[in-house]
Amino acid sequence: MNWNCEYFNPEIETLDRAGIKKLQLERLHNTLEHCMQSEFYRNRFAEAGIKPSDIKNLEDLRKIPFTTKQDLRDTYPFGLRSIPLEDCVRLHSSSGTTGNPTVILHSKRDLEQWANAVARCLWMVGCRPDDVFQNSSGYGMFTGGLGFQYGAELLGMLTVPAAAGNTLRQIKFFTDFGTTVLHAIPSYAARIYEVMCEQGIDPRRDTKLRTLVIGAEPHSEDTRRRIEEMLGVKAYNSFGMSEMCGPGVAFECKEQNGMHIWEDYYIVEIVNPDTLEPVPDGEVGELVLTTINREAMPLLRYRTRDLTRILPGECPCGRHHLRLDRMKGRSDDMIILKGVNIFPIQIEQVLMQFKELASDYLITLETRDNNDTMRVEVEMKNVNLDDYAALQALEKAIRSRLKDEILITPEIRLVPKNSLPKSEGKAVRVKDLRKQY
Ligand code: COA
Ligand code: AMP
Ligand code: ZN
Repeated sequence: MNWNCEYFNPEIETLDRAGIKKLQLERLHNTLEHCMQSEFYRNRFAEAGIKPSDIKNLEDLRKIPFTTKQDLRDTYPFGLRSIPLEDCVRLHSSSGTTGNPTVILHSKRDLEQWANAVARCLWMVGCRPDDVFQNSSGYGMFTGGLGFQYGAELLGMLTVPAAAGNTLRQIKFFTDFGTTVLHAIPSYAARIYEVMCEQGIDPRRDTKLRTLVIGAEPHSEDTRRRIEEMLGVKAYNSFGMSEMCGPGVAFECKEQNGMHIWEDYYIVEIVNPDTLEPVPDGEVGELVLTTINREAMPLLRYRTRDLTRILPGECPCGRHHLRLDRMKGRSDDMIILKGVNIFPIQIEQVLMQFKELASDYLITLETRDNNDTMRVEVEMKNVNLDDYAALQALEKAIRSRLKDEILITPEIRLVPKNSLPKSEGKAVRVKDLRKQY
């Protein structure tokens, strides 16, 4: 591999628009035929009265119904696969036990292709085999763990699977192993800086850090610049989601001006989340993705619920793959806290299991000591609020049950009935007061 080459997959990365579209159509046809191995898509196509051969060009894609998170839940765990289970080698599942979580299956080839996409992203921002890559993602089911691990290894970097938490140890790894590239979510990068300051460590003087890969939660351009300034690094926005495999879907190049989405893997549509019609070029809407390079579980027109737009114009880096603007939010009520996705309904369903609790609750997200936190205030039924020991035991039980469900530890506050503010009409369930760095 020529380290001076700007591209990891030169041929694919520099394809012109016509080349990209030709490849997409070829891969789309293969994907549609392949999807007929899945009972789910066979039924979907039959219900819609279409056959794969009706999709003659990329515009015809719109004839295919959308696939949603609910479809993944309804077919839990393996109903959406397009290959036999014995040919699948890994799955990643979302959190949650109350409703059906979602599961994404991968074949051996899928994992190789995923690693290739991540390696391509990291190479694009200047990572080379002599770099030391430290990953502060959760491992296990969080795709940011194994996803970056295999991509960084494929690129050839020495890879430090530090995993989430234990900030002092993360910092020790920087200094001991000479970490040059760090993957962290933006709020955790700020937390790391805070702890470095407490320890009297100057990232510029005492570490070799120069590249930060940040993603998994929405953040502004100002946040990026502040984090770059804090740590003395260049920070690149990384977008991905478990349904598409994980990280490696879209990534900024050195221009730091939008994230190239790999169109040899995905067909991109931006639709109005209410009408589900395409938005005019360059306008914000919901990102809809069709996988065209996946074997175990291709997804057609998957509604990501992420709001973004396609940036107009050419990128000076020589890649013609479309660029997505940074994410503007979601078209559903999903919360992302500490890099973990949480739906308020998951919290509600846990609270409802406790007979002592009334139905009103309020979730407050706050930053304390550069640590994002969640507080859940919940009204009690007519229970004796003076029985301190009983209340404490109840709080502990709720906290523990919630931790099982949403994977983070919330603070629980039990409050008297009718004490939470009531808004006109729909109750406000989530207050987001998190610090923007
Ligand atoms: N990544 C890495 N570490 C994180 C983190 C994140 N997103 N969010 C918090 N942490 C750190 C905290 O700073 C704390 O370490 P410290 O006290 O040494 O500084 C430690 O993790 C525990 O955090 P705490 O808030 O006490 O625990 P919790 O029970 O509420 O949350 C986590 C548990 C952090 C393990 C859970 O939120 C997690 O696994 N997050 C990572 C998710 C992830 O990787 N997403 C990326 C997908 S690409
Ligand atoms: P997960 O499936 O756990 O990897 O979470 C995927 C979700 O995280 C996406 O659908 C987005 O909502 C969010 N996300 C991932 N990357 C980014 C990013 N760079 N900016 C904003 N949100 C992101
Ligand atoms: Zn570019």
